[in-house]
Amino acid sequence: MTITRRNFNKACLGALSLTALGGNARAGAEQILRKAIPSTGELVPIIGLGTNRYGVGDDVEKRAVLRAALARFHELGGTVIDTAPMYRSSESVLGDLIADLDIRDGLFVATKTDKDDGAAATSAQMKASQKKLKSATIDLMQVHNLINWQEALPVLREWQQEGLVRYIGITTSRAHQYEEFEKILRQEELDFIQINYSLEQREAADRILPLAADRGAAVMINRAFGGGRIFEKVGKQALPEWAREFGCETWAQFLLKYAIGHPAATLSIPGMTKLHHVDDNFGAAHGRLPDSAERARQESFYDAL
Ligand SMILES: NC(=O)c1ccc[n+]([C@@H]2O[C@H](COP(=O)([O-])OP(=O)(O)OC[C@H]3O[C@@H](n4cnc5c(N)ncnc54)[C@H](OP(=O)(O)O)[C@@H]3O)[C@@H](O)[C@H]2O)c1
Repeated sequence: MTITRRNFNKACLGALSLTALGGNARAGAEQILRKAIPSTGELVPIIGLGTNRYGVGDDVEKRAVLRAALARFHELGGTVIDTAPMYRSSESVLGDLIADLDIRDGLFVATKTDKDDGAAATSAQMKASQKKLKSATIDLMQVHNLINWQEALPVLREWQQEGLVRYIGITTSRAHQYEEFEKILRQEELDFIQINYSLEQREAADRILPLAADRGAAVMINRAFGGGRIFEKVGKQALPEWAREFGCETWAQFLLKYAIGHPAATLSIPGMTKLHHVDDNFGAAHGRLPDSAERARQESFYDAL
């Protein structure tokens, strides 16, 4: 696969497409920036949804807030949703809300495995995820934080061959795992990696992002806001005027466009539980992304704060 896939990947990287969603009445979704998943060429919107705060159980009021955010996400053209068994009841809450809103068609649902007690336990966990998410097919199954990856990846591959999982990958958000992460990315055929990358934490760009491009793996960026912490640093500062040249009106858009502007990045999955954050973050899926000189300027600006 490597040669073909690598060549294909090079053709796809940077092949950002402004895709018309044509004929669709969803407000704001007429045009949205998308990038290609290297292993298939499938296009996905560059803004997805992180749901590690969706584990609200049966709380009716909290579910209503999340339902509004999810409805808006769909309305604006969002498709990729990242969840995990580790996020308490997030999978069940999402499964219920997606069914209630009747939006499963066209969504791209990603979840994870984290079992460390054998292949059978991994398989059982994936079956539970199918049930909670009310999805016979999971679009992307990832090994969470590399937990038991040696046993888990073969199970993920089996499910992929059976058509129950469309893509497979690994995740981390911790720099101390990068060495092992890099080793796995070098030796295993993966459709996706998920990793933290932000103006605050750029280490992934040293080796892992270029390697992902070489290996033909899509890159899902987590924690582009440092879990929200970066807003504390930039919050009171005025957004530089030049950020408007690449379509940024807010700090969130500035941070997202920086992360997704890396040539190897495919999309980012900001955690959003509030409707107005969904609106804000989708601003980053329009216009254009910063080029390398503009991204260097973003870094200098951030470092001087
Ligand atoms: N190892 C792994 O696999 C791993 C690790 C970490 C994260 N993840 C995934 O990545 C996703 C993102 O990570 P994260 O949620 O920890 O961090 P994040 O996306 O960097 O930050 C999320 C925080 O930013 C806030 N926020 C979102 N949009 C905003 C805006 N426009 N203006 C101001 N604040 C805004 C959110 O608030 P509200 O919630 O109030 O909207 C939330 O508090 C997770 O949800 C999860 O799916 C995976």
